[in-house]
Amino acid sequence: MQKLPKLNLVLTLRYHDYTNEGGLIMESYQALAKTVLISDKNNRLIHSDDSLTLVGTGRSAFVFKIKSSNKVIKIFFPRFAHIASEEADIYKLLKDISYFPVIYESGPNYIVMEFIEGLTLFQCITQGKPVTPNHINEVEDALSLASQKGLNPSDIHLRNIIITSQDEIKIIDVARFKQTKDCTQWDDIKKAYYQLYHKRFFPKKIPAPLLNTVAFLYKKKLIPTYG
Ligand SMILES: Nc1ncnc2c1ncn2[C@@H]1O[C@H](COP(=O)(O)OP(=O)(O)O)[C@@H](O)[C@H]1O
Ligand SMILES: [Mg+2]
Repeated sequence: MQKLPKLNLVLTLRYHDYTNEGGLIMESYQALAKTVLISDKNNRLIHSDDSLTLVGTGRSAFVFKIKSSNKVIKIFFPRFAHIASEEADIYKLLKDISYFPVIYESGPNYIVMEFIEGLTLFQCITQGKPVTPNHINEVEDALSLASQKGLNPSDIHLRNIIITSQDEIKIIDVARFKQTKDCTQWDDIKKAYYQLYHKRFFPKKIPAPLLNTVAFLYKKKLIPTYG
């Protein structure tokens, strides 16, 4: 019984690959999204189609690269499915700003968007890839352009900022850009960058548990501000 939908999907994908210049039409994305089974209890990934490669896990979704395309599909955990359309609307508002991925399609529990090849700031710091003041300035620029669209950039943390293989900044995970509450996360990152990371004495490769601890201390305002 389990095999039938998968067979259907393969046929649909092949058909649309030929008819839509390698892109899939909405029904195919929906079929693809349906192959992803996520446990409702603990948000564990149970199954996904062979044409998908998991590239990231967030607090509300799994993100898969669609093989042989330059696109990802972000599939929300069942409890957060409603965020798909909210986040899609925000990506549409940001479509002229190159700091944000292009969005192609959305459905009841998913968004299809441009695959951003690179490392999140979190990965850069734990793997020892330098983050420069220029990268920080580019994030500032991205956020101020988003503000000019009437949005309130929020939830800007190390895992939501990517430095691409072309050394450009891209910001992902924009679902909270319409919240009215002030978010200080980006200010905290800037402070930590100039007060610690940018200093000559500070190691440029930090193990993930230590980086998580530093982020937690900033969040709890347990690191004094100076300078
Ligand atoms: N467009 C993308 N291209 C490449 N990787 C992505 C893309 N969007 C998200 N990711 C990866 O998936 C992870 C989770 O995505 P995100 O949108 O932040 O989900 P959540 O809303 O659950 O936090 C990110 O930290 C990143 O590693
Ligand atoms: Mg995220």
